[in-house]
Amino acid sequence: MTFLRKLALGASVIALGCSSAVAADMTVGFSQIGSESGWRAAETSVTKMEAEKRGIDLKFADAQQKQENQIKAIRGFIAQGVDAILVAPVVATGWEEVLTEAKEAEIPVVLLDRGVDAPQDLYLTSVASDQVKEGRVAGEWLAKTVGDKPCKVVELQGTVGSTPAINRKKGFEEAIAGKSNITIARSQTGDFTRSKGKEVMEGFLKAENGGKDICAMYAHNDDMAVGAIQAIKDAGLKPGTDILVVSIDAVPDIFAAMVAGEANATVELTPNMAGPAFDALDAFKKDGKQPEKFIITESKLYTPADDPQGEYDRRKGLGY
Ligand code: AHR
Repeated sequence: MTFLRKLALGASVIALGCSSAVAADMTVGFSQIGSESGWRAAETSVTKMEAEKRGIDLKFADAQQKQENQIKAIRGFIAQGVDAILVAPVVATGWEEVLTEAKEAEIPVVLLDRGVDAPQDLYLTSVASDQVKEGRVAGEWLAKTVGDKPCKVVELQGTVGSTPAINRKKGFEEAIAGKSNITIARSQTGDFTRSKGKEVMEGFLKAENGGKDICAMYAHNDDMAVGAIQAIKDAGLKPGTDILVVSIDAVPDIFAAMVAGEANATVELTPNMAGPAFDALDAFKKDGKQPEKFIITESKLYTPADDPQGEYDRRKGLGY
C-alpha cells in the first residue's frame, strides 16, 4: 500500500475514532553513509533507538561510503513499498533520478544531516544543522582566541563534495575574512576519518617546519581532530597549547581530549536527526501536514570551560 493510500486510510480511521491503529504502522528505510566517524555511529544507534521507541519498523542499509550503494538501497526500499525513506547523502550531487523515482512511487524522503543539489520538491524535508554556521562558530572562536597575533591555520576538510565539507569551509572562511593576521596555510581532505586526519596532519607538520609554524588546526569533524592530535603529539608538540585544536561534532573523545588539555573547542552536532524526522513523518502521515522544508538543529560551542568531563559522561551511552 503506498504512503498516500495509507494516509487516506489513516484519515478515515481517525474519523472513526481509532487513530492509535494507524500510529505504529510505519516501515521506514534508512540509507546510512557508513561509519566513518564516531558521530555517524551515534546517529545510527540513535536512529534505531528512536524508531524502536515509536514502534517503527526500520530497514537499515549501510552504504560503506559509496553513493552507488545508497542509490541501490533506495531503489530496494522503493521496491519493498516502504512508507518513507531516510537518507544521509554522502555527497551533494547525483540524486535527482532516484529521488524522482521515490516521488513517483509516492514515498516521502527525508534527508538527514547533509544536503543535496536537487529540486526541493523531491524530498519532504531535510533535518540538518546549519553547516555554514558551524564553520563560522569555529572561525569566530579562533579569531577571538588569537586576537591580533599572527596565526597560520591548517584545515582538515571532510569528504570531498559533501555539504558539510563545502559549508564548514565556507563558514570558517567567512569568520576570518576580516582578520589579515589569520591565514589558512594548508587545506586538504581527511575524509571525516580519524586515520586520514592523522595521516594528512603528519604531512602538514612536515611541510610547516615540523609544526612550529602552525598556530591552529581546524578540522571539519572531531574524529579527524583526534587523529591530528595524535600526529601533533608524535611530532613532539603539545596539541591544545603549541597548536590550537578546533573542530565540529562534540563527540565524547573530543571532550576526553579537552580534559587532557589537548583540544580547545568543538561545535556540537546532535546525533538525533531521526527524532525530528519521525515527528515530521508522523504528522504528515496522520493529517498530511507539510513540515518546514529545512528543520535546523542547534550549533553550540563547547570549550574546556564547559565541564568537558560532564559532557563526556552525558554522551558515552549514545553509541559514539
Ligand atoms: O554530515 C555530518 C558529518 O558527517 C559529521 O560531522 C561527521 O562526523 C560525519 O561523518
